[in-house]
Amino acid sequence: MARVTAGASDSFARPSASAIDRARLLLERALGPSKVATSRDVCERYAADDSDAPGVAPDAVVFARSADDVAEALEIASATGVPVTPRAAGTGRTGGAVPVAGGIVLVTLGMSDIKEIDRDEQLAVVGPGVVTGALHEAVEREGLFYPPDPNSLATCAIGGNLAENAGGPRAFKYGVTRDHVLGVEVVTMGGARLSCGRRTVKGVTGYDVTALLVGSEGTLGVFTEATLRLRPKPAAVTTLLALFDGARAAVCAVSAIVAAGLVPRCLELLDAGTLDAVRARGVSIDPRASAMLLVEVDGDPRACELEAERVGEACVAASALDVVVAQSAAQRDRLWAARRELSPAVRALARHKISEDVVVPRQRLADLLDAVARTSEREGVRSVTYGHAGDGNLHVNFLWNDASERPAVERATAQLFRDVVAMRGTLSGEHGIGILKAPYLGLEQSPALIALQRDLKRVFDPAGLLNPGKIFPQAGHRAC
Ligand code: LAC
Ligand code: ZN
Repeated sequence: MARVTAGASDSFARPSASAIDRARLLLERALGPSKVATSRDVCERYAADDSDAPGVAPDAVVFARSADDVAEALEIASATGVPVTPRAAGTGRTGGAVPVAGGIVLVTLGMSDIKEIDRDEQLAVVGPGVVTGALHEAVEREGLFYPPDPNSLATCAIGGNLAENAGGPRAFKYGVTRDHVLGVEVVTMGGARLSCGRRTVKGVTGYDVTALLVGSEGTLGVFTEATLRLRPKPAAVTTLLALFDGARAAVCAVSAIVAAGLVPRCLELLDAGTLDAVRARGVSIDPRASAMLLVEVDGDPRACELEAERVGEACVAASALDVVVAQSAAQRDRLWAARRELSPAVRALARHKISEDVVVPRQRLADLLDAVARTSEREGVRSVTYGHAGDGNLHVNFLWNDASERPAVERATAQLFRDVVAMRGTLSGEHGIGILKAPYLGLEQSPALIALQRDLKRVFDPAGLLNPGKIFPQAGHRAC
């Protein structure tokens, strides 16, 4: 039986008091007191991210302003044997930026320069602290477009997006963060700088170390710069809502849209529970609807119109109750604001929630919904599901109010992962494994593959000091 190990941090030894004193002294000496905080209240603020992963407050927080600062911090961490947890905006959902053994939290949010937007080459060079939504605005002013749009885009930052290989609704057409990273600069443990990747659109020289670093969840190096691929900004965007009397009908429409060869940029499902959460936020939705697809097409205005029409036809053929086209930018913005706030809106439905980001082959979406309904019923745990149906990537949320319900939630979560793997799906489509899913990695990946990744980790970080406790199952985790 798998277990979400609430005390994942218990198994990590904290650094000794003398190592901490030495690290604090060296950091303050190298970076100056304005970039190093050691007070208890500041340190405690950096013990958590936007997940429920349990953390251990760090002993020092470093606010890096430059690659030199990052290099100093990693050199000192290596020299003193103190663990380091990198962090950009700390909006992660799986504990990727949560320290499990105290030590140093290395914050790169202050490295927020957009250094370059090159219109001819269609690329941007940015620091890891650039907020994703701010990057969108900056490139769109130049007639360009950066597609990855995690729903926390108003607060999340590029460094974290790279670390977790973040996705978002537009991934259906455009792909995830990794598909838009041409090159990165990182600092590795010990303070060595590494520049990898390219500025050109094509390039196959050597191993694709950039692709390895993106999605490595801060366990291999700390990003100090990224070269991002841009596209021309689509001339037109049309948003449609298709309403259904159940989520199964909605996923049939998803299959129909894909089978018709249509490629909307977003193909989002909201089930009955999430629609209620949206209604509770003041968006009025036809009371007959118990599922919705939020679909968005983009491109040339005429092509957009035709594609929207064909999407509508596919939905009607799949027994949609109604298909509505957003009539104004304001209406569209209201819809997206409600969609983007779904995660906090669902959180408000109960005292606790666990939100997964599993992926199944699209043809298995209905099976996934059935499996979740069965598990919820058997375990007596409330669930609501929404997400990026076009990618087969759904956020299954289990909700509970009382600690006594927690074991049932853990059983439901383990069952979800077993079902997803049995459907030839994957544990994470966009939030990463972090702390919360580490106990389950062995459900999806073979011991040989996990061992290979541990070997790679050792090449970058022989002492295991960089972002410990992430991705890999720990000794205390029971076999799944
Ligand atoms: C979303 C986040 C939770 O899609 O990934 O809302
Ligand atoms: Zn999502």
